Amino acid sequence: MEAVKSSNRQEQHVTEIKRKQLTLAIVGCGGISEHYMRAIAAMDGVHVVAAVDIKPDVASAFQKRHQIPKIFTDYRDMLASARPDAVCVCTPNLLHAPVSIAALQAGAHVITEKPMALTPAQCAEMIHAAKTAKRQLAVGFQYRFHPATQMLKRAADAGQFGKVMHVKCQALRRRGVPNWGVFGQKKLQGGGPLIDIGVHVLEMAHYVMGSPRPISAAGNVWTFDGNRPNDVPCMWPGWDWQMHDIEDLAVGQIRFENGAILQIEASFIAHIEKDVWNFQLSGSNGGANWDPPQIFTNQAGTMVNISPAYLPPMDFDGLFKAKLENFVAAVLDGSPLESPAEAGLAVQEMIDGIYRSAESGHEIALRSR
Ligand SMILES: NC(=O)c1ccc[n+]([C@@H]2O[C@H](COP(=O)([O-])OP(=O)(O)OC[C@H]3O[C@@H](n4cnc5c(N)ncnc54)[C@H](O)[C@@H]3O)[C@@H](O)[C@H]2O)c1
Repeated sequence: MEAVKSSNRQEQHVTEIKRKQLTLAIVGCGGISEHYMRAIAAMDGVHVVAAVDIKPDVASAFQKRHQIPKIFTDYRDMLASARPDAVCVCTPNLLHAPVSIAALQAGAHVITEKPMALTPAQCAEMIHAAKTAKRQLAVGFQYRFHPATQMLKRAADAGQFGKVMHVKCQALRRRGVPNWGVFGQKKLQGGGPLIDIGVHVLEMAHYVMGSPRPISAAGNVWTFDGNRPNDVPCMWPGWDWQMHDIEDLAVGQIRFENGAILQIEASFIAHIEKDVWNFQLSGSNGGANWDPPQIFTNQAGTMVNISPAYLPPMDFDGLFKAKLENFVAAVLDGSPLESPAEAGLAVQEMIDGIYRSAESGHEIALRSR
């Protein structure tokens, strides 16, 4: 009898170990994939079994660096041959939708880098593919895992801000045009700082607001310097100014169904004192700032500014670990995704609306969902 119990326990243990194993493939072996690899290395039971890069030398160097069993130059070959449980999409933005959809159709779960895709229509196709295949689809919005974002989200959920009326988002670089990859090319990236870095501040602010439905967008974009030779020393000199057809500065405003207004400013180049990465929120009972994290309200007949006595430190790799752990848990245990595809679609609608407004010179009504 004891022997039977012990064998049951062993089987249970083996099942438990098996259940916790997950095979992953990385598509796109550039800068951001290194953060994935560092995060995955710190996770039990998650194994990168394949990597894909269109450049064979890049794929091969990645394989050597990380001891990846198999490498490919075409993601379709990888999906057919390696059959991973899940795929991390780390390619230029243009490929987020086709790679994700192919992976979902091949039966893999997907986490795609931000922005979710180039257009809301592509996001909707991705969501359809995930629902049809009954697979998880996450968007790599790591800033919602940041302790400051989580603190403000808890405060918002507890009603500390009351009705949120206005949010101001800023992702501003004084002079920080990426000098690697294809970030200056609109056809591959979909745009410039708004879709590349504005997306981060926008997504965390929208998350803290409780994800209200955006109903209209207005804005403008300007290209005035990035498309000329750069002779000003800066953190990333030598970008390809001849291929640069994205905006240098974008300013937009979103109106939500619940009456709230969100404003966003995003730049790779702007004549401002210093870089800013922040959002400020103003509600009927209180307000907040993301950096430094603070809550502003009235207590005992006094205006008070509340600062956390302690927030756990979290660096960029920590944020990637948090987003991957959440994705892996959703795949293995069906726990909720903190950054689901629907959040990616809402953010894409806002960004797309601002770009369309800039083109047309009018406020744009956003699709109702
Ligand atoms: N979450 C974040 O904070 C964050 C930060 C930086 C970049 N990103 C996102 O990550 C993605 C990649 O950015 P990056 O900085 O790593 O760029 P990168 O240029 O360094 O890497 C992209 C890689 O994709 C490869 N590639 C291109 N076409 C391919 C194809 N058809 N199949 C396979 N591989 C292909 C390129 O050869 C390159 O090696 C972008 O979508 C970007 O927005 C996210």
